[in-house]
Amino acid sequence: MLKKNFCSLSKLEKSTSIRKWINEFKDEIIVFIKNKKIYVKSSICPHFGGPILYKSNSDYLLCPWHGLEFDFNGKCTNDKNFKVCLKNYDYEIKGNNIYIIKK
Ligand code: FES
Repeated sequence: MLKKNFCSLSKLEKSTSIRKWINEFKDEIIVFIKNKKIYVKSSICPHFGGPILYKSNSDYLLCPWHGLEFDFNGKCTNDKNFKVCLKNYDYEIKGNNIYIIKK
């Protein structure tokens, strides 16, 4: 198991989302809050590696390269033939810090 300090909770609460490459995970991670819940996903689209974006108050994640949309469970919602989900990560809050966990 790998655990990495990602950002402070107070910084995340002031941001729409925070994206960061994590060397140890070999992945770029996006973290955002929706309806008081924290979501931690890979921000590399499983289609062809485009950037996964989250817009404030949006109900889905979007990859602008070819327009695929993903729900917050990581499932593609606008192309029923695309079955690969966004990678999901666990997290842990300690004090004011969010740690991302790769199992
Ligand atoms: S690379 Fe994301 S939709 Fe194609």
